[in-house]
Amino acid sequence: MRNFEIAAGGRLSGRFQVPGDKSISHRAIMLAALAQGRSRISGLLTGEDCIATRRAFEAMGVAMHNDADALVIDGVGLHGLQAPAQTIDLGNSGTGMRLLAGLLAGQAFATRLTGDASLTQRPMGRIIKPLRRMGARITGDAQDRAPLDIAGGDKLTGIDYHAPVASAQIKTCLLLAGLYAEGVTTVHEPGISRDHSERMLAALGADIDYGQGSVTLRSGAPLQAQDLTVPADLSSAAFAMVGAAIAPGSELQLPGVGINPTRRGVIDLLLRMGAAIEITNERQVSGEPVADLTIRGRSLQGIDIDGADVALAIDEFPALFIAAACAKGGTRLRNAAELRVKESDRIAAMAAGLTTLGVDAAAHDDGMTIVGMPHGAAFSGGRINSHGDHRIAMAFSMAALRASGPITIDDCDNVATSFPDFVARARHAGLDIGVREAAA
Ligand code: S3P
Repeated sequence: MRNFEIAAGGRLSGRFQVPGDKSISHRAIMLAALAQGRSRISGLLTGEDCIATRRAFEAMGVAMHNDADALVIDGVGLHGLQAPAQTIDLGNSGTGMRLLAGLLAGQAFATRLTGDASLTQRPMGRIIKPLRRMGARITGDAQDRAPLDIAGGDKLTGIDYHAPVASAQIKTCLLLAGLYAEGVTTVHEPGISRDHSERMLAALGADIDYGQGSVTLRSGAPLQAQDLTVPADLSSAAFAMVGAAIAPGSELQLPGVGINPTRRGVIDLLLRMGAAIEITNERQVSGEPVADLTIRGRSLQGIDIDGADVALAIDEFPALFIAAACAKGGTRLRNAAELRVKESDRIAAMAAGLTTLGVDAAAHDDGMTIVGMPHGAAFSGGRINSHGDHRIAMAFSMAALRASGPITIDDCDNVATSFPDFVARARHAGLDIGVREAAA
């Protein structure tokens, strides 16, 4: 097990290169594998989650090779996958498991999906129920958790589905099953979730309409291979953004970051808190909006967060809670119960860690109230349990910039799922962070 040890103080400066977007990387590998022809994917995340997705498709007969900085994928077409010899292990990745489950429900062969201790605790009923309605035979354990067995060989039929939560994973799972279903698959959501799948499916030739909280896909159109460039991941950028925002004297540049409107909540929430963020050189990269970001340290103020803002920043709350602790006044987050079923229970993990560092943080069933520290005050040092969650580990790493003593974070191996060289890049930007091997 690897722990992070971070010395107190410092500031972030220079150019911070953020790795490729995890959500888009998963989708690029999956859709390129199902397309007809060769795709060249640049900027792909080489984190463990996406490596697990790559291995899954290689196990199903899809040839891929690295060429310079790109991954070259020889698509096999919608009906060209072969039965894998073994159980597919998706490690820590909820996206990998939920998206693949939809896609595999449409195959002629049976598959079994499993994952690590975290992933096998996460709710899968949210995809099992609608996939069964489409005609798939898919089973988990008694609580609808992984391992998942997908029988395959079923005739799927499109459904009109109202998802109980705004979730791009549920939506994409059903769209991928919909590629194999007879007729039309429609998914309605109670809020806006990220639309990377819709953009990429449309670009590759799928018959799809989307917008205003619903998406409709008609099966039958083949996917055509296309070269893609994956933007830098705003969710990974968020840690450095918060670090720079809370550490006086910081000025950090983050080039080529995805700012898709269905994902950019963290930017808008930090701006509402008073952060100094400049957005320049806005452009489109492979159908996704991208920009260069510059963040400077400045005093922040607490805000209320509710409603549509929640899904737009769902992965960024660990980082945002650190910003809230450094802000003047209180921050209250509501309607964010989804945070309890991520890679860890992020409400419990963040409330416990903030309390350890001397912050007044109260967990609620569906959110958190954080009383910002008085101006000029600092986190105490301390020892934090990341619960094996990459985003908890990276969020608390940044707290050290405003701490009065060193912070140790236990169980940080999973940072490699989304940000393999976080330590080196954070050090380069000015965080005094080191890694210590510890007994598990
Ligand atoms: C993701 C969607 C989100 C997010 C996850 C990645 C995706 O999950 O938390 O890290 O790539 O579709 P939900 O859609 O379940 O909220």
